[in-house]
Amino acid sequence: MRLAVVIGNVRDGRFGPTVARWFTEIAAKDGRFTVDVIDLADHELPVGLPAVSPRLDPDPERPEGMHGLTEALTAADAFVVVTPDYNRSYPAALKAAIDWHFTQWEYKAIGFVGYSGASGGLLGHRAPAAGLHRLNAHTVRDYVSFPRYYLLFDESGSLREPEEPAAAAGELLDQVHWWASASAAGRQDRSRQAATI
Ligand SMILES: Cc1cc2nc3c(=O)[nH]c(=O)nc-3n(C[C@H](O)[C@H](O)[C@H](O)COP(=O)(O)O)c2cc1C
Repeated sequence: MRLAVVIGNVRDGRFGPTVARWFTEIAAKDGRFTVDVIDLADHELPVGLPAVSPRLDPDPERPEGMHGLTEALTAADAFVVVTPDYNRSYPAALKAAIDWHFTQWEYKAIGFVGYSGASGGLLGHRAPAAGLHRLNAHTVRDYVSFPRYYLLFDESGSLREPEEPAAAAGELLDQVHWWASASAAGRQDRSRQAATI
């Protein structure tokens, strides 16, 4: 089972990679997943979308600098998206990554780890969860949230009190694993059916 941890923002000086590092270590230690990190900052993500929705044309011409992202999304069985709240919603880069793709998200399990000021990333994941639902992805119930994250992480990027967030991350991984296993089996059935049509 391949889990991709997606760093969902690209701002200079962002805190996202620190949160992603914390979660990636826990996911790797968990042992049920091969864990990859997809940093959206490493990829070309124009907001000028293809002429036809990827839902209607699943393989639109994408910029060359996006090919690595498309391949990494395709390879994943499940995702955990790390995102802050930006103006009570989520970063534009994450929106572009979602909108440029469709089958890469479809029938896959998705969890969220959020952080920000007061709202702890909750607003940053509700909106993409609704969008991903439209793409037939399954967003899991639980999430990890870090309100006022700057009080929770020390200067070296470690959590001052790691136990509770680690337990929440474990719960999230349980749910992602369950749904990822169920949907991986379903995806295999679908491709077998398609091959026999
Ligand atoms: C454009 C912008 C909008 C923001 N909007 C919110 C917000 O709506 N709610 C909130 O709690 N924090 C908000 N913040 C604070 C961010 O959550 C905080 O700066 C966090 O560090 C952003 O993540 P990053 O450092 O990985 O970019 C905003 C920050 C930026 C840059």
